[in-house]
Amino acid sequence: MIEILDEEILLSTKKTSMVLSYRNQKKLGTYYYGRKIISKEEIPSLIRKYSYIEGTEINLEENKPYTEDLLKLDLSVMNHSDFNSPSLILGNEKSSVFDFVFKEAKIISPSIIEGLPTPHDAKEELLVTLEDSLMKVKADLHYVLYPEVDVIGRYLVIHNENELPLSIRKAMSYQLPLVNHDDRIFSTYGHWADEFNADTHPVIHGRTLIESLTGSSSARHNPFFMILEKDCNNISGNVYGFNLVYSGNHEYSIEMDTFDNIRISQGIQSTGFEKVIETNESFSTPMGIMSFSYEGTNGLALNMQQFVNAHIIKPQWKNTDRPIIYNNWEATGPNFSKGKLVSLMKKAKSIGIELFVLDDGWFSSRNDDSHGLGDWNVNGKKLPGGLKSLSDECQKLGMKFGIWVEPEMVNDDTKLYKEHPDWIIKDNIHIPLKGRHQYVLDLSKKEVQDYIIKAMHSILDNADISYVKWDYNRNISDIPNGFSSFYHDYILGLYKVISKLTDDYPDVLFENCASGGNRFDLGMLSYFPQSWMSDDTDSYQRETIQRNALYGYPLSVMSNHVAAKTSNQLLRKTSLDIKFDVAQYGILGYELDLNDLFKNDLETIEDQIRFYKENRKVLQWGRYSLVSEPSEKEDLVLEASLDDKAIITQFHSLQRPNPKEGHLKALYLEEDSLYTYKTRPQLIPLKKFGNLVNYIAPIHVKEDYILSVALAKHVKMKSEVDEGIASGSALLSSGPVLTQEWSGVGYDEHIRLVSDFGTRCYLIRKKI
Ligand code: DGJ
Repeated sequence: MIEILDEEILLSTKKTSMVLSYRNQKKLGTYYYGRKIISKEEIPSLIRKYSYIEGTEINLEENKPYTEDLLKLDLSVMNHSDFNSPSLILGNEKSSVFDFVFKEAKIISPSIIEGLPTPHDAKEELLVTLEDSLMKVKADLHYVLYPEVDVIGRYLVIHNENELPLSIRKAMSYQLPLVNHDDRIFSTYGHWADEFNADTHPVIHGRTLIESLTGSSSARHNPFFMILEKDCNNISGNVYGFNLVYSGNHEYSIEMDTFDNIRISQGIQSTGFEKVIETNESFSTPMGIMSFSYEGTNGLALNMQQFVNAHIIKPQWKNTDRPIIYNNWEATGPNFSKGKLVSLMKKAKSIGIELFVLDDGWFSSRNDDSHGLGDWNVNGKKLPGGLKSLSDECQKLGMKFGIWVEPEMVNDDTKLYKEHPDWIIKDNIHIPLKGRHQYVLDLSKKEVQDYIIKAMHSILDNADISYVKWDYNRNISDIPNGFSSFYHDYILGLYKVISKLTDDYPDVLFENCASGGNRFDLGMLSYFPQSWMSDDTDSYQRETIQRNALYGYPLSVMSNHVAAKTSNQLLRKTSLDIKFDVAQYGILGYELDLNDLFKNDLETIEDQIRFYKENRKVLQWGRYSLVSEPSEKEDLVLEASLDDKAIITQFHSLQRPNPKEGHLKALYLEEDSLYTYKTRPQLIPLKKFGNLVNYIAPIHVKEDYILSVALAKHVKMKSEVDEGIASGSALLSSGPVLTQEWSGVGYDEHIRLVSDFGTRCYLIRKKI
């Protein structure tokens, strides 16, 4: 709800309040953001009263105790009385001094941001206009409310009413003042195959600036971050979460001044940025996202996850069952034949897969990554009958068919490059640099946008294609003008293309990919409802990626695959069951050579798929939470919960000798309900026992000898199964005791043999 009061504005969501005020010298600021207040009478107490201005500060007005430096501003500029980092830098040929003051506030119907993705189904919107009448520039601050998920969106529109052009060098989507409580910053960092690592570090006096300059939102630093108050943990304490609905270069800044006031801002990356707007032109920033929870990081995660599902994902994909995918990339790379694909399709169908995806290598001369990108004609030698014949084959089998594309890029041996060398990004002075042997097409050009749309139309119109994996595999370099809005214009061009394509093909499921998670953000998710999270399919590595991403993103957008037992990325060996326990949280897929698997393994996958289908709703649309952090003594434990079900997985790092008693602990269940719980059984690889297998084998088996492989092929050994009944209260406390863990002295069917990097998954259901 939005209430415009006398010089104050109260924004209320389900559990939070934000108080804006322009009482002090008509300067707009946020004086309170936190738990919901209960009465308007409280508002005056939340706003600081100033009597004197101290030391070297500059007076906004002679003999008045106000200086912008100490007011809790929602928009700040340089060259006036604020000496903290500004959220807006602009100027014209005559001046770069600005004095923005409140002009008006009104409630409007939720708006659409021109050219940029706007979260849908907002409830209410507040528009506050600030103005510098001498400079003839207006700043519109939009506050957009998503009350049921406790999210407030903010964006800024600058209008130039001056006869001189206005240069904008920095325009953050929001600026939010906060009070410091020994706050910590949670931010993420990463790179190819190692996305979403987390840093938690104190807010320091001065400024922490985190940014991406790669041309995309990037795996280096995802735009999602949190500010945690001192005692905040996963289940309690105050926490603020932030994000940006944007896919290009971005930055966020956390600044603490010398009086311990905190100022948060986020927006389009400002280094090298310049946008010049002429008389009567405007410039809009993307929308920034803010949320607060007093229920710890899982509380914040719930807000963010619900926000993405309800307001970012296109409505037609909301709550719909996403198909289980088979993707051929890790099995074949770009070298395959039609015969090989058809045999994989048949195997995939036989184990329950619902959609077959043909990855890179189906077009032009593409047999490795230095050829063919940009010429989107099928390689008839590899695939006689084209995509149509493959999609028909899938149809016959009762599976859907999907393909991989990377339309923003080009290799230099292509017809496209030869005909349009000027379509790539380059400065026309240097030899443009390649990444993965390819150039980036300049999507700020209309003709390039039109080409991509046409090429995609021709692919999608000529075969029965239900899914597209849209890849993007290098950073941007060699931009023609380093002091411009080029990177932003590229992203606007991209949004034009993908908005048109997703409108033209509303039933095609697009999956976002950028060498894994290099453009995993709310902008891309506004068009493509799911995203490949990482090229790292090693399960242990992937746990970290998923665990840190869950604070900002829901299960429904996280696409994960079970790959071969030996990880291509780390050569770490883990069983298919362990891989499944990780990959099941989100959109499940398989990405290994199914023809290389033993019958045992195929049966294992069939069981997994059956389990996933039975629990798909909770695994795709449930609340995704961290039950416990991993430590020397504790496992990482994750939970997906929805209605009367929860799926809890305990993830081991290293096996401990003679370990302590194990318990099953859950988080988001009803205290006074009874639940049943049961282990999802795993197949224990016999080779795991090494020489100890001779305690049970009728003949002597040497470790690593051919016989041990043969045994693995035929002997099916199931893990222990823990099952029982427990109340929500017990599960929320220490939880039921699990069977004894392997301790090196004896083994029977009750022993819980988890091992290094191992997992145990439990299905909890309300008892009826
Ligand atoms: C990078 C993606 O992340 C992979 O999954 C795969 O599609 C390759 N590109 C293909 O080139």
